[in-house]
Amino acid sequence: MELPFAESWKIKMVEPIKKSTRAEREKWLKEAHYNVFQLKSEQVYIDCITDSGTGAMSDRQWAAMMMGDESYAGASSFFRLKDTITRITGFQYVIPTHQGRAAENVLFSHLVKAGAVVPGNSHFDTTKGHIESRKATALDCTIDEAKDTQLELPFKGNVDPKKLEKALAEHADKVPFIIVTVTNNTAGGQPVSMQNLREVRAIADKYKKRVILDSARFAENAYFIKTREKGYENKTIKEIVKEMFSLADGMTMSAKKDGIVNMGGFIATRHEDWYEGAKCFCIPFEGYLTYGGMNGRDMDALAVGLDENTEFDNLETRIKQVEYLAKRLDEFGIPYQRPAGGHAIFVDASRILTEIPKEEFPAQTLTIELYLEAGIRGCEIGYILADRDPVTRENRFGGLDLLRLCIPRRVYTNNHMDVIAVALKNVFDRRNQIKRGVRITWEAELMRHFTVQLERLG
Ligand code: F0G
Repeated sequence: MELPFAESWKIKMVEPIKKSTRAEREKWLKEAHYNVFQLKSEQVYIDCITDSGTGAMSDRQWAAMMMGDESYAGASSFFRLKDTITRITGFQYVIPTHQGRAAENVLFSHLVKAGAVVPGNSHFDTTKGHIESRKATALDCTIDEAKDTQLELPFKGNVDPKKLEKALAEHADKVPFIIVTVTNNTAGGQPVSMQNLREVRAIADKYKKRVILDSARFAENAYFIKTREKGYENKTIKEIVKEMFSLADGMTMSAKKDGIVNMGGFIATRHEDWYEGAKCFCIPFEGYLTYGGMNGRDMDALAVGLDENTEFDNLETRIKQVEYLAKRLDEFGIPYQRPAGGHAIFVDASRILTEIPKEEFPAQTLTIELYLEAGIRGCEIGYILADRDPVTRENRFGGLDLLRLCIPRRVYTNNHMDVIAVALKNVFDRRNQIKRGVRITWEAELMRHFTVQLERLG
């Protein structure tokens, strides 16, 4: 008999988690204005709000922390991190930052001016925020197929080369760079193929533009290239990663995802002029160039994390767990963005809560229902997160309305996945009784989902 699949690690340290009653959750959520970001973590049983900074570090990472050099300037931890990044990506210039959005802030302060147009594939909300707050435009050139959650495509995160070419033909003089997010978080943790990265490179070269990879989940992207793209089955993850970055000019990185650290990020590039330009913004915003917002010990843990998570076994364990949850949802007929993404399952709320009009935010309503059902915290990646159009101030209802269930790296077992699946099934089974959603009572102008206050209707 063939041996079943099992994790490529064993557990050395545990953290207790607590269940709660429905009455407690009703009270807590009301106090949180029906915004799960406002809950206290101890009010949550299984936390799927994000895979960012929530992973479990390995024994090697914890050991590396003891070697942290906390010197203000020239810390050896920085050089260990820089050498690892250069070895893995090929980029020789590295600026550490405290997280991914800080990398965006530093680099975009140098590159993005008012009136600029930045094409890419479903810019993440902080990326879009850092572009729009500079009075520039984030132009989404993702393939249309990504919008049909039921379509099974191996690389649903791809850039549409035709849309990109059109964007460049129309706005070439306003485009400071093209940004490709790997994997495409907003489209459902969907990967981008090597072939697509090559196409983007060719278009960029034609218009003499540079390409940035928003690399938060670059290693998971490489796993999908290895397992889904012809010609890559026998390559190592590290070889694939090297090739991905060879097609780009630089990267912004939230190390809290595929670096498997709790905090950290960086910019890396092959171009001295980008490095020199970004440097001037790193010092006032983040800190001196050899720590830029990170502790020495955190840079050491990140160096080890990057190395570990560009190994196949670690990635396979992780992505198979996401697939496991997807298979459970399939048994119950619950619709989600297909195929399952790298870091999360994106449940298609608009196909479940069909009675709720979009003005009452179906995905947020589903997020609320799942929390009340079992204390599981997902988050809305939908109409609330999409913010209002900066010009018309209308809600943006053009995209998908999803409940995202992120799976932290090396944290939960498949028993937890079973609890999530069954809780969601229970909500799904009573979907026709859920007829009203929520109304916004207070919201911020930008990135409103973190602090929005809501009222339940009906
Ligand atoms: N880019 C992508 C693709 C991301 O998913 C994130 C963060 C960032 C940039 C910003 O990085 O949080 O370190 O400042 N995504 C988290 C999430 C918050 O839950 O998806 P950060």
